[in-house]
Amino acid sequence: MLDSRLLVVENQLEKSTLEKVNDPFLKAAGVHLWMKRDDRLHPIISGNKWRKLKYIVEHALLLQPRCLISMGGQYSNHLHALAFVGKQLGLPTVAWIRGDPPLEFNRTLKDLADWGMELHFISRSEYRELRKIKDYDGLPERYGTGYWLSEGGANPLALKGVAELVGEISEPCDYFCLPCGTGTTLAGIASSVTGDFTVLGFVAFKGGAYLKDEISALLPYQVARQSWQLNLDYHFGGFAKTSPQLLAFVDDFSATTGIMIEPTYTGKMLYGIYDLVKQNYFKKGQSIIALHTGGLQSIRAPR
Ligand SMILES: Cc1ncc(COP(=O)(O)O)c(C=O)c1O
Repeated sequence: MLDSRLLVVENQLEKSTLEKVNDPFLKAAGVHLWMKRDDRLHPIISGNKWRKLKYIVEHALLLQPRCLISMGGQYSNHLHALAFVGKQLGLPTVAWIRGDPPLEFNRTLKDLADWGMELHFISRSEYRELRKIKDYDGLPERYGTGYWLSEGGANPLALKGVAELVGEISEPCDYFCLPCGTGTTLAGIASSVTGDFTVLGFVAFKGGAYLKDEISALLPYQVARQSWQLNLDYHFGGFAKTSPQLLAFVDDFSATTGIMIEPTYTGKMLYGIYDLVKQNYFKKGQSIIALHTGGLQSIRAPR
């Protein structure tokens, strides 16, 4: 039974639906695309955020830490969700943020501060070092004492929450596609699905080949029950980088389908899926389920 404090958060969630994407382009190509609308779960803890945080925070609550400590960029969806959850639980939160403190806080940082998160800014090189710390109790003391959540909530405990979304899918498919940052969400899917389909992760940043090892390390006892692959081709120059084509695609997709997406994760994945459809990567009649991982708050970042 989930901790009653977490139930209070979970009870605020809306239903994540599975919706067929109606797009004449896909129809002409004979490919069926469905979206698992995790963006619908909540305006803030949307997408994969609560899925990943739920059992990590449950573990943290058992240990009664002074606070939750984590790291992220200046538009981090992960920190945004964590600060909100911390406020809901009455548990202080602390963040180590990449880069110099800005002269003026953007709207994400303002939210973090408003929700009581203690913010510290660190250099990019220090940030890279901090990234290596994965264990909840492995944070060097100079960064504070509390329960440590590594970047993006990359922790084996996150897999259990992600796996719950698989149980909500009733439609058969040939491919299950999702965007990847740390690869934790992919690991959660790959560890739990048993259907006859391929899990295809679209890596949202450049040079992501190493993610293969990181994902394998997260998977329980080396077993991915499902075959999974990474596509490294749709990073658009780096994390959170865009191009006029990508931004035009995101706008067109939202206008055609009525599904709002952002360009950092779900936008890059969908651009990749559409491009692969053009290249006949998918066979006529095949079905794809694509995970909408939320993150719409990041649209407030300047383009
Ligand atoms: C909106 C969104 N989509 C996808 C991801 C990537 O998830 P993961 O780090 O589990 O690969 C993130 C990062 O957590 C995210 O914020």
